[in-house]
Amino acid sequence: MTTHAVELHGVTAGYGLGPRRVTALEEVTVAFTAGTFTAVMGPSGSGKSTLLHCAAGLDRPAAGSVRIGGTELGPLGDDALTVLRRDRVGFVFQAFNLVSTLTAEQNVALPLRLAGRRPAPGELTAALAAVGLAGRAAHRPGELSGGEQQRVAIARAMISRPAVLFADEPTGALDSATSRQVLALLRGLADEHAQTVVMVTHDPVAAAYADRVLLLADGRIVDDLPRADAAVIAARMARLEVPC
Ligand SMILES: Nc1ncnc2c1ncn2[C@@H]1O[C@H](COP(=O)(O)OP(=O)(O)OP(=O)(O)O)[C@@H](O)[C@H]1O
Ligand SMILES: [Mg+2]
Repeated sequence: MTTHAVELHGVTAGYGLGPRRVTALEEVTVAFTAGTFTAVMGPSGSGKSTLLHCAAGLDRPAAGSVRIGGTELGPLGDDALTVLRRDRVGFVFQAFNLVSTLTAEQNVALPLRLAGRRPAPGELTAALAAVGLAGRAAHRPGELSGGEQQRVAIARAMISRPAVLFADEPTGALDSATSRQVLALLRGLADEHAQTVVMVTHDPVAAAYADRVLLLADGRIVDDLPRADAAVIAARMARLEVPC
């Protein structure tokens, strides 16, 4: 039997009420197999971040169900949901969400501290070194470039080795060399540690690192490609962006 790390069934989600209501996801059904790396693409506003937030238990959908590691999230209370997220999910936010008063190293340590774990000697240094930031441990977010902050957010999401790692445009602020380094790191999580990675990206070169590419348009999955090279992915994206 295939293990699904995350499953969404008929997920509908939106924002606001009444005439201002925006539907961001419409009846999305998709499953992510454990140990795979999926890229999620689609035009701006197509629902990619909303999909990640619902799949990670950060937002509750208006309809449908979400399971993480076989546990249905809907019936869980807020505390139980927080514990499940803490134990099984890592999230790299599109806006980084670092704590401005903490240093890079303290930000990376946060998920461990919240779980009541003391970092092993060298663990934080190694996590920062893995994203090329060994020399920035004592810097606060305000003293780091955008790309450096993004890499601290990636190190923080990876530190607790979550079963599922969601990353919302994790290479959006990075140059191509650093971006390749981060993508190889994400690829390694799936290949070497059987972690499940779901990454939003606008970049076909980044999506080509994934085992599978989901394309979203207007809150629906409109394509589901197996591993493909960047040119094939770019061609599929271009077809989506042509107004019909
Ligand atoms: N907090 C919010 N309040 C109201 N509408 C929202 C909110 N967040 C998102 N939306 C709307 O929901 C839709 C989907 O947004 P979402 O952030 O999921 O898109 P996205 O695909 O991640 O886009 P981008 O590539 O620009 O990050 C958009 O129409 C957006 O305007
Ligand atoms: Mg987004």
